[in-house]
Amino acid sequence: RPHLLGIEGLSPPEIVDLLDRAEENIELGRQPSKKRDSLLGRTQINLFFENSTRTQSSFELAGKRLGADVMNMAVGQSSVKKGETLIDTAVTLNAMNPDVIVVRHNASGAVALLAQKVDCSVVNAGDGSHEHPTQALLDALTIRRHKQRIDGLIVAICGDVAHSRVARSNVLLLTALGARVRLVGPSTLVPGAFREMGLETFTSMREGLKDADIVMMLRLQRERMQGSFVPSVREYFHYWGLDEEKLSYARPDALVMHPGPMNRGVEIDPAVADGPQSLIREQVEMGVAIRMAVLDAVVNARGNGGEAFR
Ligand code: CP
Repeated sequence: RPHLLGIEGLSPPEIVDLLDRAEENIELGRQPSKKRDSLLGRTQINLFFENSTRTQSSFELAGKRLGADVMNMAVGQSSVKKGETLIDTAVTLNAMNPDVIVVRHNASGAVALLAQKVDCSVVNAGDGSHEHPTQALLDALTIRRHKQRIDGLIVAICGDVAHSRVARSNVLLLTALGARVRLVGPSTLVPGAFREMGLETFTSMREGLKDADIVMMLRLQRERMQGSFVPSVREYFHYWGLDEEKLSYARPDALVMHPGPMNRGVEIDPAVADGPQSLIREQVEMGVAIRMAVLDAVVNARGNGGEAFR
């Protein structure tokens, strides 16, 4: 069974194929009365060990729009609370013969491990600080709809890169499609490994945002900073929070993105988050279209995408 465990390993044609398929789903996502039936008779289980608003709800809507029976596993009320392990939980759910399990977990690599233990397809809905492939796909779809291309764009990914699975998946996807990706943030939150990958890194927003087409802000993930340096909110906003002045360093037609959830007044000023250059609401809408394309690709494994997923 094919899985989608990360952007890593997907070829540029496979990524573009998923974006094209998602483009066809946008209208369907808006008009549920025109449901498709490509997952009719199929069972989708959403297994979220970490909190989610956008990803879980859009995976649920996406499955339902395609006709699947969708079950949301309430991990907080499950036998996980009695000490049942990730693997035993997965094997138990697998015994109910689902076609696809969508998994979010706080440990990097947990989703890939689970995929080895079940017979069905597995989709990574975010694992630790490793990958969040459907977020990167929906971000790329949003960018492509506004800029008509990815190739050659300057994308500044700003803030807490170190703890961000969104940053990692976006770096992999956007560079695969030819964007120039820059990382901007305090040196404590921008890992040196990215410099070794050949990415430009900046500590100054003024320098990092210069000529940027896309400014992608990241949430400061204080819950993942146990024991390490935690910047003060006031200082962080002063140097790295995106306000109108810092946005003016980018191109005049630059677009602002944020995967959510946002810390308003920490990494982004509400005036920018809700301003005319913001695509944040549209990113959420594209999430349904992308997740429809991914579910269809892994469950039906046809066409130019599915069979190459690992
Ligand atoms: N962007 C994102 O993954 O949001 P949720 O945590 O709300 O799913």
